[in-house]
Amino acid sequence: MKGIVLAGGRATRLRPLTKITSKQLLPVYNKPMIFYPIQTLINAGIKEILIIIAPDYAGHFLNLLGSGKDFGVRFTYEIQEEPRGLADAFIVGENFIGDDNVAMILGDNIFDDDFSESIKNFNKGAMVFAKKVPDANRYGVIEFDDNHNVLSIVEKPEHPKSDFAMVGLYILDNRASKFAKAVQPSGRGEIEIVDVINSYRERGELKVDFVRGVWEDAGTFDSLLRINNYMADKDRSEKERKENA
Ligand code: TTP
Repeated sequence: MKGIVLAGGRATRLRPLTKITSKQLLPVYNKPMIFYPIQTLINAGIKEILIIIAPDYAGHFLNLLGSGKDFGVRFTYEIQEEPRGLADAFIVGENFIGDDNVAMILGDNIFDDDFSESIKNFNKGAMVFAKKVPDANRYGVIEFDDNHNVLSIVEKPEHPKSDFAMVGLYILDNRASKFAKAVQPSGRGEIEIVDVINSYRERGELKVDFVRGVWEDAGTFDSLLRINNYMADKDRSEKERKENA
């Protein structure tokens, strides 16, 4: 299993914070944001990671992250010239993925959860993760039947059919690149990851698991503040626990 961190994009919702830097370089408590999705992949046992970045601040990412030696893994980099959409990760990353399976995580998605079992047990098809949220219309929304079979996944629907958002971690086999290339741009001009996932669903090859721990998409001021506070609290309680041990 290889890993991809998708860390380009425009980050318009975080302006002016992102006027002179990339969203994924902003601090989340005591680390740059991108450290968290990288660590999620590493904790799940992944050792080869492609980091996809926009041209603007590419040098900063290289200076910050280097070869991956400090993390005990290997980093490769690709530039995404234009933010064409999340599905573009599998096109930009096609050579890197090669014949392997891939876990793609969004560079602004922060988890306090462990995915090592899901990744270890993954064989073929696609696996996505759902989390109950109060504002599902911001995300890809997953509709289930009573047996947790997926009936539909719809990107940012006006009237969501459930409260379950599809979070920014996707485990796919190497057909992801082929399916992504067949996706037509949506009304907002992006190639949508939902269309890639639906290619697997239509073939009966999509599985959904649930995120039990914390998940935050740190792309807005409020969610960025929430996850900063969460990580600060977590760090404090870990220090207290160590002091009392
Ligand atoms: P988004 O939050 O959907 O987009 P954005 O980061 O450009 O922000 P905004 O909507 O405020 O303008 O992107 C989710 C993640 O995926 C984020 O880490 C950026 C990354 N991304 C890319 O790397 N390339 C892309 O083409 C897109 C659309 C997003």
